[in-house]
Amino acid sequence: MNEFFYRNGELYCEDVSVTKIAGEVGTPFYLYSSDALISRFKAYDQAFSGSSHLICYAVKANSNLAVLNLLAGLGSGADIVSGGELRRALRAGIEAASIVYSGVGKTEQEIRQAIEAGILMFNVESMQELDVITRQAGRLGLKAPISFRVNPDVDPMTHPYISTGLKKNKFGLSMSDARKAYRAAAARKELRISGISCHIGSQLTELQPFVDAFRRIRTLLEEIESWDIEIKYIDTGGGLGIRYNDETAPEPAQYVRTLLKEAEGLNQTVIVEPGRSIAGNAGILVTRMLYTKEHEGRRFYIVDAGMNDLARPSLYQAYHAIFPVEETDTPLRETDVVGPICETGDFLARQRPMPDVPRGSLLAVMSAGAYGFTMSSNYNSRPRIPEVMVKGDRFQVVRSREGFEHVIRGERLFELDC
Ligand code: LLP
Repeated sequence: MNEFFYRNGELYCEDVSVTKIAGEVGTPFYLYSSDALISRFKAYDQAFSGSSHLICYAVKANSNLAVLNLLAGLGSGADIVSGGELRRALRAGIEAASIVYSGVGKTEQEIRQAIEAGILMFNVESMQELDVITRQAGRLGLKAPISFRVNPDVDPMTHPYISTGLKKNKFGLSMSDARKAYRAAAARKELRISGISCHIGSQLTELQPFVDAFRRIRTLLEEIESWDIEIKYIDTGGGLGIRYNDETAPEPAQYVRTLLKEAEGLNQTVIVEPGRSIAGNAGILVTRMLYTKEHEGRRFYIVDAGMNDLARPSLYQAYHAIFPVEETDTPLRETDVVGPICETGDFLARQRPMPDVPRGSLLAVMSAGAYGFTMSSNYNSRPRIPEVMVKGDRFQVVRSREGFEHVIRGERLFELDC
């Protein structure tokens, strides 16, 4: 897959010059390739062909309505974690019956909305949550479909902030609690047991942890079935990694083949919840260099995108490749690429070999399609930046740049007498 490439020394997204978009939209902005999104989704879908499956795209990775709508058109379901994501998914045309609802802190109101919408199932993470779902379903006179998110205690060997399937993490129920939970749920008429699920972490570059988790879940599934509880879905979560730098992440097809091998002999529908592996390399962040400066022997490129626009480098020391939009063969020198935010942690790259480029140049921050815009904020009263989607030789702004009025929306002066 390479929807971002140089043509005549200039970076293109499909058939559109990035410089041209920057000229019309201004900087910074997120840029997505529709072809890349489609081909990544299809890679999953085709690898599953012939087996009963559902791809529930993890909305948190990139929740732009245009992205969701594109995936909806390909038959995608959604993995959501809030009422807001539920509404986005529905608005974008994803069918309620293909939505799974994950997350440790679903509120009563969110639970009610999701039951009313008719989602496929809740991935329940605690007994108290189960009680709330039971109560809300009872009030609505409906049966709530549930699955328990089991914490298989598998080390995904990824960054500690994004590993979720270890005993010490807040996610899911332990295997032994899950056994009790299934028995309890089976006795409640307000509930319908639909599945079993897990999610062990994100940006996994090895398949073995997925295999280990699947085997544990499968053992539990078979035990539960022996109690005459029918389970229709086995949801293995998301987490497949992508190449940011020099990692070698397995391809979706390889990952799916591995899962299907583990699922042999089961009659359940396999659900996967990929986010990053669909959207991550389908997007970039385009930023302009405002200034360059040197001190204490260090060179800084000060750009117009900051940690409020792309939090990953500051938050996880994540690596994103950065290339000049106009190709150059000037020598590389170690450079800190930093944003305008008043924090030392505001950087996009540190001590990175970068070519000499003049002030005003455009830079492309790669692999920014997942957990980029969705984690952005208004910190430092910076308006959130636009999102642009390309198809062939055309592009469209799919979220416009915020203005100052967006930034202060809902605020008012304190008018009570002090
Ligand atoms: N399912 C569940 C229940 C999840 O919690 C997640 C991600 C996914 C699916 C999708 O995982 P993916 O396929 O994208 O790895 N902000 C972090 C990543 C946090 C992931 C949270 N959960 C980052 O920028 O690396």
